[in-house]
Amino acid sequence: MWNVYSRWRDGVKGERSRRLILGLRGISTAVDIQGDGPAILFVHGFPMDRTLWHHQMAAMRGWRRIAPDLRGMGLTEVADRYSMAEYADDMASLMDALGASQAIVCGLSMGGYVAFEILRRHRKRVRALILSNTRAGADSVEGRANRDAMIDTVRVDGPAAVAETLIPKLLGPSSLEAMPKVVGHLRTMISNTPAAGVIGALEAMRDRSDSTELCKKIDVPTLVIAGANDQIVSPAEAGEMADLIPGAQFAIIPEAGHLAPLEQPIACNRVIGEFVESLR
Ligand code: MLT
Repeated sequence: MWNVYSRWRDGVKGERSRRLILGLRGISTAVDIQGDGPAILFVHGFPMDRTLWHHQMAAMRGWRRIAPDLRGMGLTEVADRYSMAEYADDMASLMDALGASQAIVCGLSMGGYVAFEILRRHRKRVRALILSNTRAGADSVEGRANRDAMIDTVRVDGPAAVAETLIPKLLGPSSLEAMPKVVGHLRTMISNTPAAGVIGALEAMRDRSDSTELCKKIDVPTLVIAGANDQIVSPAEAGEMADLIPGAQFAIIPEAGHLAPLEQPIACNRVIGEFVESLR
């Protein structure tokens, strides 16, 4: 393993933050780290990057916030292989490199699928779970066909075409209308994702396991977050998943679509903050 460490710099409110580029499992991997304390690992959704979590990175004082780019996305190198297992093993390897034996794993949408896989493959590393705007079920036959159609679109027209299709679905109506900076941030994240990373993630999501039975056996504290206006995972579907998970807490964030932590950071940070503080 080789590492490139940036210097610690002063983050918000005098906290330390830094960007690391780590050689993990043969892949140059970018990760932002902020603050000190017990670890929270933030896993972004598709096809985004670590900056999805910038409000949580800035706010969760007293915790060591770790936000990596998954393989093939953001500043992390593209790879030969993509699957939920590969992403999960990357996250365990990242935790090894950072000396974090355990973390609260917080995944949004595809990041939630990765969190389920971390639970399957690296159960002891998971202190607690935050499942934001995600679902337990695998893709339906139609869903798998849609993944293949999107792969064709990326091959022909590139990730920018995906951005135009996805943005109206990812954001709630009020965010689309009144939050041009969020729209611009999302467009940049998606358009800058390498085509190989987008295709790899689509294949990994298409082929992922169903996590419904896993949910029934989750034995770590869990918070499920839904966006009231999420068009991809409805609050009803997220609530059904929360009902499967023993003792899970469930929060619906008003005026939020599929990217609740980015669209409604104050409300999300309050819910996440209360949950993580209850674990101290
Ligand atoms: C995501 O936000 O990660 C995606 O919407 C997940 C999916 O397409 O299943």
